[in-house]
Amino acid sequence: MIVSVFGASGRTGQAFIEAASAAGLTLRLHYRAKPSDQVPTSSTVVVGSLNDPTAVREVLRGADACVVLFGPRPDARIPFCAAATKQIIASMHTQSLQRLIVVTGAMVGDMPGNVAITMRLMRLMVQRGAHEGMVEDRIEQERLVRTSRLEGWTVVKPPRLTDDPPSDAVDMAPNLSIGMRSRISRAALAAALVREVQSPQHAQQAVYVAQR
Ligand SMILES: NC(=O)c1ccc[n+]([C@@H]2O[C@H](COP(=O)([O-])OP(=O)(O)OC[C@H]3O[C@@H](n4cnc5c(N)ncnc54)[C@H](OP(=O)(O)O)[C@@H]3O)[C@@H](O)[C@H]2O)c1
Repeated sequence: MIVSVFGASGRTGQAFIEAASAAGLTLRLHYRAKPSDQVPTSSTVVVGSLNDPTAVREVLRGADACVVLFGPRPDARIPFCAAATKQIIASMHTQSLQRLIVVTGAMVGDMPGNVAITMRLMRLMVQRGAHEGMVEDRIEQERLVRTSRLEGWTVVKPPRLTDDPPSDAVDMAPNLSIGMRSRISRAALAAALVREVQSPQHAQQAVYVAQR
């Protein structure tokens, strides 16, 4: 199975590369700059801008699924997630690729009843500190995925990410209870994403994910 990965240089990106390679997946990895880390020999690296349709098309070429793991670095000021995701979705349509998994966050968008009230308060604080347009960018990113007309889209919404070891004790569901103590390690998230790639359970759903 061939999987395109956007956000390969990030910490979840690195964890995904490790978990996916161990599971025997072949990867097409997108980087903004030449990677300094070693990548698995079976993978293909594409370096380029997310604004460049040719680079995006090349990352997606021949893939069975696409996983989007990018997100703003701390103190980022320029929104990019929605525009890049739009570019990816457009390119997927031209290549008849239907399976798209996009990681956003538990605090993005409407907070339904499964998300604790304390998380709403926390979101208010986060929103106050965010640079203009950054919050709206993630909301728009989710909207684009939900309305993508791709048969196999999934939005994955983790709470706090940690760098703890991997774990299979992970729940993923649209109505999963999320509170201030909810968390998931990037390694556990990566393993859950690999499972979702290999055996889709949540096509056309936005799902919360957390460690037990
Ligand atoms: N941190 C948390 O607790 C938390 C909680 C919930 C959800 N999330 C989300 O989970 C996902 C993974 O998080 P993470 O902490 O593992 O990520 P991370 O280590 O911060 O990596 C961010 C990734 O996004 C890319 N990126 C950043 N700015 C970019 C830009 N302007 N254009 C193109 N690419 C850009 C980075 O590329 P470069 O290496 O080139 O900068 C890198 O690959 C993200 O969507 C994040 O928002 C995080």
